[in-house]
Amino acid sequence: MRRIGPTDCLEAKGNRKLVMLTAYDFPTAKIIDQTYMVDIILVGDSLGMVVQGKPNTLEVTMDQMIYHTSIVSRATKHSMIVGDMPFMSYHTSVEDAVRNAGRFVQEGGANAVKLEGAGKVIEKIEAIIDAGIPVMGHLGLTPQSINKFGGWKLQGKTKDDAKKIINDAKALEKAGVFSIVLEMVPAELAEEITKQVNVPTIGIGAGPHCDGQVLVLHDVIGLTDFSPSFAKQYVNVGKSIEEAVSRFASEVKEGIYPDAKHSFSLTKEE
Ligand code: KIV
Repeated sequence: MRRIGPTDCLEAKGNRKLVMLTAYDFPTAKIIDQTYMVDIILVGDSLGMVVQGKPNTLEVTMDQMIYHTSIVSRATKHSMIVGDMPFMSYHTSVEDAVRNAGRFVQEGGANAVKLEGAGKVIEKIEAIIDAGIPVMGHLGLTPQSINKFGGWKLQGKTKDDAKKIINDAKALEKAGVFSIVLEMVPAELAEEITKQVNVPTIGIGAGPHCDGQVLVLHDVIGLTDFSPSFAKQYVNVGKSIEEAVSRFASEVKEGIYPDAKHSFSLTKEE
């Protein structure tokens, strides 16, 4: 089975919902990939928060992103791998943007990259696409601008703000992105954008009308202390790990583990 590509995503619009999840390590990326139900795995800079325990995504570096992207791409065969370009990796110049996007492909094995925002970012997106690297856009609550927004707040609430996000989505489409993430915007606005652009929208906290949905894996499986209200937890892996650790510790303390079955012996055939 071949990998999902940008054309598959474009063809999905209006035909089937796209599914995207984040992953940052080998075992979870492999599990996600082997379901054959997830179109895109995003190696998100959210790793700064859910893996590194930082308050936001701003300190994540290119080297860290490349490290995690190479692990995830090695673990997968089916899902498209999108590398999330971190803060300051594409803001300084078009040249830096293309070079860093290229690193995601050459060193990380990514199939595409994601950049936040429009405006001055558009020329960088065009140059990256010119270099043959597919780009995913990201609008609404773009976490790398958290200081500008003054917190994790719903975006596009006023008429003017909504209009700006619609125009930004059209500019991204014109620049050639193969999909657009819409994060924390009202469902009505996401629906309008989904109607007005021909590329698929992928929502996170953007209601049910997008062409696809994305969540952070750690929110889905219960591995975070705090989850945003739009995220749905399907299992509580955190609780299972806690139980396993407690049982192991108790068995060690009580001399139950290791038993004969879990030991080597000169008198037992291996
Ligand atoms: O970094 C990330 O995980 C993301 C998703 C929330 C879309 O950008």
